[in-house]
Amino acid sequence: MTEYDALIAAAKQARENAHAPYSNFRVGAALRAKSGRVFTGCNIENATLGLTCCAERTAIFKAVSEGERGFEAIAVVADTDVLTPPCGACRQIIWEFCGDVPVILANLKGKVRHETMGTLLPHAFDSSFL
Ligand code: THU
Repeated sequence: MTEYDALIAAAKQARENAHAPYSNFRVGAALRAKSGRVFTGCNIENATLGLTCCAERTAIFKAVSEGERGFEAIAVVADTDVLTPPCGACRQIIWEFCGDVPVILANLKGKVRHETMGTLLPHAFDSSFL
């Protein structure tokens, strides 16, 4: 048991709701807020393909739209042997709202790796430049 097991389980559960008929690549994410609340997301694809929203951004947008600010960690679950990391767009969004948080990558076989946003998005552009 680690402090991230519940977050991984929530991401795995959210993955079940993925709308991914075009790629068949299902992803779940779970975001833990400093308040203790957990927000989940799945990838939601669209026939235009370009309008797809990744699981990570779904979770963050849900949380932010409900007024939540300040996050502690995010977990991402996909069914791949090589653990799936957040895409570039999601890294920028995670950095915007979460900063240098732990990013827990996991698959369905129980493989887990801990990254940090600082490693995944070094030299990030953010509001400190504006
Ligand atoms: N996807 C995510 O939801 N999160 C990731 O970290 C990587 C990619 C989705 C987008 C698309 O629906 C599918 O996976 C294939 O790229």
